[in-house]
Amino acid sequence: MADTILKIEHLNKTFEVDKEKIDILKDINLEIKAGEFITIVGHSGCGKSTLLKIIGGLVEYTDGTVERNGKKVTEPGTDCGMVFQEHRLLPWLKIKDNVAFGLDGVPQDEREKLVKEHINLVHLDGFENVYPAQLSGGMSQRAAIARGLVSNPSILLLDEPFGALDALTRIQMQREIQRIWKEKKTTMIMVTHDIDEAIYLGKRIVVMSARPGEIKTILNVDSAAKNRGSADFAYYKKKIYDHFFEDAEDAPEYII
Ligand SMILES: Nc1ncnc2c1ncn2[C@@H]1O[C@H](COP(=O)(O)OP(=O)(O)O)[C@@H](O)[C@H]1O
Ligand SMILES: [Mg+2]
Repeated sequence: MADTILKIEHLNKTFEVDKEKIDILKDINLEIKAGEFITIVGHSGCGKSTLLKIIGGLVEYTDGTVERNGKKVTEPGTDCGMVFQEHRLLPWLKIKDNVAFGLDGVPQDEREKLVKEHINLVHLDGFENVYPAQLSGGMSQRAAIARGLVSNPSILLLDEPFGALDALTRIQMQREIQRIWKEKKTTMIMVTHDIDEAIYLGKRIVVMSARPGEIKTILNVDSAAKNRGSADFAYYKKKIYDHFFEDAEDAPEYII
């Protein structure tokens, strides 16, 4: 049995808006093993980003437990990298310095080695000395992934990382993140609103309900379903849409 890398038990999150407590996440239970690729899908506003931020230690949770690598999560750590929809690269720093950003305190030669290795991993060799404005959207996300992985975290959290890319670049980047996952064996947890992306990449898909976000179901994805044109792929797609639109009268319309 592989090691448990993330354990979430009875997690609840409320936000206070105008002195009113609003339930955002409700009784989330999730255990993730080292090396898994988990995708999380759900309606806009159901708390997906909040959940990732809680795992990453960027947002406090209200109650329950969240343990990363066997330790209660209280703050961000080098064991957990993050990639967001916007690349969040600092415009005044060269790509190599942006990638090195999370390596404070690492000796210079080790730092250079890690940066070179990760620029190579995301296939940005030759772009070390350019500035973010000189990169395309896909390349900027490559740099953001390199920055997220540079400290060799055991978990990489990805919040709609390809959401701002055009359709073809998006497919290319899905292949890239899969390649990187296989090469680095980092545990990946990706939030996406793109059902195809969730099926293509996820070993397990966490399907969430509308706010307050609860886990409706977790689907184990068969390896045969990785081919987007296959009947298995269509099967998972229908299953997920069924969860989202089970109450809607026009639910069958999406089945083309
Ligand atoms: N800091 C905050 N204060 C109050 N409400 C928030 C805060 N952050 C997020 N929310 C609310 O929590 C809900 C879930 O947000 P989010 O996690 O961003 O959803 P998702 O990523 O699934 O679209 C939304 O209704 C949002 O407005
Ligand atoms: Mg979000």
